[in-house]
Amino acid sequence: MKRGTPLLILLIAAVLAVGFVAYSLLHNGVSAKATPTALEVMMARKARHMALPSAARSLVNPVAATEENLRGGRLHFADHCAICHGNDGSCDTLMGSGLYPKPPDMRLAETQKLSDGELFWIIENGVRFTGMPAFSTRHSSPEDSWKLVLFIRHLPKLTAEERIEMERNNPKSPADLLEEQQENDFLNGKTPAPPAEPHHH
Ligand code: HEC
Repeated sequence: MKRGTPLLILLIAAVLAVGFVAYSLLHNGVSAKATPTALEVMMARKARHMALPSAARSLVNPVAATEENLRGGRLHFADHCAICHGNDGSCDTLMGSGLYPKPPDMRLAETQKLSDGELFWIIENGVRFTGMPAFSTRHSSPEDSWKLVLFIRHLPKLTAEERIEMERNNPKSPADLLEEQQENDFLNGKTPAPPAEPHHH
């Protein structure tokens, strides 16, 4: 073999690799409707794992898995996370299914095998270039995030009763609230309130 040949092979391999990655990232234009290729999912998860400070990964959950803390995490999840992740963590939601990348089914091993510290870090800091927001900014303490970690661990064993309670705590639109009020008034034997006039502030 001539001296230049290995270099040429390396160059061709590099060009092919870049082309493959570019195809993997750009297939289907920039539409969020596409599903990431298995290669892209694998590389993104690897990159995310490597980018996470290793000290953060080994943090131990300081919040005890009591019934009360689990319930706190569950209702917080219903309020802030279920819109994308679903109450059951399946991510089978309007928001979740339209994102790129789509949030994973958190009941499965792929998520469950992440360490507590890694789950906590993701909740606190979010994941750049994905729809996953950082929650350490406002309205939420580190303790809240640790309770969410407890709840994520509980997801594979979520009961029907717990799900129903969560549904009552999912965010509601003004129209939902009005309907609920009218239902309650009806059930309490009060005359149903007349349909609200749209009022301006
Ligand atoms: C606007 C949509 C959205 C909301 C709201 C949201 N997430 Fe996410 N979440 C995502 C997306 C998208 C991903 C995938 C990120 C990735 O691919 O790295 C994700 C990933 C995660 C992961 C990593 C799972 C894994 O296996 O990779 C955890 C843990 C998580 N979210 C927890 C939460 C919690 C807890 C809340 C509420 C406090 C929340 N998320 C709210 C969209 C959302």
